[in-house]
Amino acid sequence: MASQTNPHFPLLLAIAFLLSIFLSVSAQYSPRFACDTDNNPGLKKFLFSDSIDRLGIPSYGWWSEALHGVSDTGPATWFNKTVVPGATSYPQVILTAASFNESLWNLLGKVVSTEARAMYNTGVAGLTFWSPNVNIFRDPRWGRGQETPGEDPLVASRYGVAYVKGLQETEDGDEDRLKIGACCKHYTAYDLDNWTSVDRFHFNAIVTQQDLEDTYNLPFKKCVLDGNVASIMCSFNKINGVPACGDKELLEDTVRGKWKLNGYISSDCDSLDVMFKDMRYEKTPEQVTADALNAGLDLNCGDSLKNFTASAVKKGLVNETMVNRAVTNSFTTLMRLGFFDGNPSKQMYGKLGKKDVCTKANQDLARETARQGIVLLKNNLGSLPLLPSDIKSLAVIGPNANATVAMIGNYAGVPCKYTTPLQGLSDSVETLYEEGCDHVMCNSTEGFEKAKNIAAKADAVVLVMGTDLSIEHEALDRTEIDLPGQQNLLVSEVAYAARGPVILVVMSGGGIDVSFAKCNPKVTSIMWVGLPGQEGGGALADVIFGRYNPGGRLPMTWYPRSYTDTVTMSNMNMRADPSTGYPGRSYRFYRGETVYPFGYGLSYSLYVHHLVKAPKQLTISLKKPATGQCSKSTCKSIDATDKVCGSQSFDVEITVTNIGKMAGSHSVLLFSYPPQVIYNSPQKQLLDFKRVQLGPWNQTSIKFKVDVCKQLSVVDKDGNMKLPLGRHVLQIGDLKHSINLKI
Ligand SMILES: *[C@@H]1O[C@H](CO)[C@@H](O)[C@H](O)[C@H]1NC(C)=O
Ligand SMILES: *[C@@H]1O[C@H](CO)[C@@H](O)[C@H](O)[C@H]1NC(C)=O
Ligand SMILES: *[C@@H]1O[C@H](CO)[C@@H](O)[C@H](O)[C@H]1NC(C)=O
Ligand SMILES: *[C@@H]1O[C@H](CO)[C@@H](O)[C@H](O)[C@H]1NC(C)=O
Ligand SMILES: *[C@@H]1O[C@H](CO)[C@@H](O)[C@H](O)[C@H]1NC(C)=O
Ligand SMILES: *[C@@H]1O[C@H](CO)[C@@H](O)[C@H](O)[C@H]1NC(C)=O
Ligand SMILES: *[C@@H]1O[C@H](CO)[C@@H](O)[C@H](O)[C@H]1NC(C)=O
Ligand SMILES: *[C@@H]1O[C@H](CO)[C@@H](O)[C@H](O)[C@H]1NC(C)=O
Repeated sequence: MASQTNPHFPLLLAIAFLLSIFLSVSAQYSPRFACDTDNNPGLKKFLFSDSIDRLGIPSYGWWSEALHGVSDTGPATWFNKTVVPGATSYPQVILTAASFNESLWNLLGKVVSTEARAMYNTGVAGLTFWSPNVNIFRDPRWGRGQETPGEDPLVASRYGVAYVKGLQETEDGDEDRLKIGACCKHYTAYDLDNWTSVDRFHFNAIVTQQDLEDTYNLPFKKCVLDGNVASIMCSFNKINGVPACGDKELLEDTVRGKWKLNGYISSDCDSLDVMFKDMRYEKTPEQVTADALNAGLDLNCGDSLKNFTASAVKKGLVNETMVNRAVTNSFTTLMRLGFFDGNPSKQMYGKLGKKDVCTKANQDLARETARQGIVLLKNNLGSLPLLPSDIKSLAVIGPNANATVAMIGNYAGVPCKYTTPLQGLSDSVETLYEEGCDHVMCNSTEGFEKAKNIAAKADAVVLVMGTDLSIEHEALDRTEIDLPGQQNLLVSEVAYAARGPVILVVMSGGGIDVSFAKCNPKVTSIMWVGLPGQEGGGALADVIFGRYNPGGRLPMTWYPRSYTDTVTMSNMNMRADPSTGYPGRSYRFYRGETVYPFGYGLSYSLYVHHLVKAPKQLTISLKKPATGQCSKSTCKSIDATDKVCGSQSFDVEITVTNIGKMAGSHSVLLFSYPPQVIYNSPQKQLLDFKRVQLGPWNQTSIKFKVDVCKQLSVVDKDGNMKLPLGRHVLQIGDLKHSINLKI
């Protein structure tokens, strides 16, 4: 055994023991921070303090979370009244994604990492945060869909990269340093938690190479290649029979080999134990540990590595090289974070402290983020915005009308404070309030009469309905996508009794079948506010009273209930299958009816798009003949690889005019419809997007640069990028334009 010949073996094993969630120190000396050279001058001789006092490092908790604000979900971060009582709680990611504003996503990362670093300095947070969640929101029932940027791989990738950079990048631009360490999770094809009898600890996701390449893996690839993320977390589930955390092809060969991750691969909590106990993947926990280390895992959330690495090595199941690699990847990340640079207060972010958490500016940004994300779905002429001077009394009704925790969703922390919908609206007008239902489950109609009474008296009605974590959350997927319980009935009865406009506000993570309200002329407006964060009520009031002109767009398809009646959640195929009647998933593949489509969202203004410039014909010159595939005359597609296709781009230039009376912020989405020459291509895909601010009657021009080989290509059956030749149709709003692609 290698162990008997290597004098460092005991040390290596000792370090391996540390690779559990909490690095623990057995020595009597327990420093407050690593490399305290003032109190221990002997440390100076080590190059990286420069060091570790024979492992004289303080215990380090790896698990912190900062999905939409610093959270206390992981044990390494906590709040208490004396030190840091709370942190700014931004809207849940699904709403932030609806803003389609990349600079906002990046800014949120910066602000959240500042609060995180401030909390680290005060001793109540770690430096490694296991956020963001960039899984594809594949099915509307998923209880964690709210945590993600939605169903589109390009949006998820852009969100992931912008947020990761915001969290990680230091002010001095030194890429070796990290402000905090981010983590893109959960790799991969993880988007089912607990649906009927299927759960994530047993689920084997059967995924095609095509779906893996152009959908499930894309956000992770971009997190590593474009975001330089410090960590990837492997998921609980199996992918085509192999647990993600034990899959060498996914971890070592792809994440580290092809994408060149500069950082560590962590498990979920505790994936290794799940592999052993729930999946019964191996006969012994040592073998599971060896599988994971051999596959490329560096860190385990849980104590499996701590308990079983030593015996796995002794049994010869895994060698020292693998253990060294795991230790090195984890510890170099801590070095990049300044963990071994001595007293945190003397470092780059050393001046940050309690005063930098929950600042007025940070809380204002929570309100601004919600405003930018809110999606207006229906607005009969003259319904919204309401003029406060016209409203002598406003009826505010519904189980979420005075919501607090329901606004912050999964992976939240303790917010600085809450502004509930009722409080936000009451700041502008006189309100009357009735819950109607005392809980989102809404099994009783007892409160309906009181609600109808105030609706009949008031000048306008706002119904705040939807879900909360009792309906959709981690470990709980929905089985139905209607409003829960008797909520539909409450909305309809209140609308019937009302004498003024009726505004239905849907507070939820996932999409809801609100067709009944869409079709009901008495429901004059519908808006979706996601889970809008601590300032949700203020943002909602800003939109309702026209202080903010809504510009959010749905980052996921809203399906009718018939979709969940016929499609099993465990079917991972993105592509439709006409032979079985399977309708496919997301706007890229699903052709059936929707309640509201991906990208949908109204404004109080109208915007007109006009094409200024785009080519009609494009001739691709190949770097190298597309040998073996086809001759020039019969060729239907070419390899979109750098070797063959090279770099060629064109501009699409348009003008956008705001022809309304209000200034507004408008997201322009550029789609393409590729020619259907590659098997199972998407019918439509998002190429790019941009959000612009426009005054009333004002115009701006927008230029999209389209990289032909990278952006117009699609993935074939075997997972290879192909550029289909022929007619590509570009679409922006109502504008369509064809480009003929030739070689
Ligand atoms: C708050 O946390 C700090 C740091 O961990 C600790 O010293 C203090 O005792 C805690 N206070 C309370 C009231 O729990
Ligand atoms: C690791 O060992 C500890 C102490 O024996 C035990 O409590 C824990 O359950 C073990 N964990 C696993 C995953 O086996
Ligand atoms: C250690 O194990 C890995 C994975 O099985 C193997 O590729 C490598 O050659 C081994 N190294 C040594 C020094 O035995
Ligand atoms: C609304 O919620 C807030 C915060 O929980 C609470 O203080 C207030 O009393 C509630 N208002 C009503 C009318 O119930
Ligand atoms: C409503 O129904 C749910 C689910 O059946 C049940 O768990 C809950 O206790 C009920 N609530 C009330 C107030 O009856
Ligand atoms: C699934 O959900 C049910 C009902 O809430 C719960 O009892 C069960 O523990 C959950 N299972 C898992 C694996 O999360
Ligand atoms: C995008 O977000 C940033 C940060 O909040 C904001 O300054 C900018 O105005 C937003 N862009 C648009 C067009 O709304
Ligand atoms: C209109 O747009 C131009 C540039 O596109 C800008 O300079 C001007 O300030 C805008 N006017 C208003 C009223 O927004």
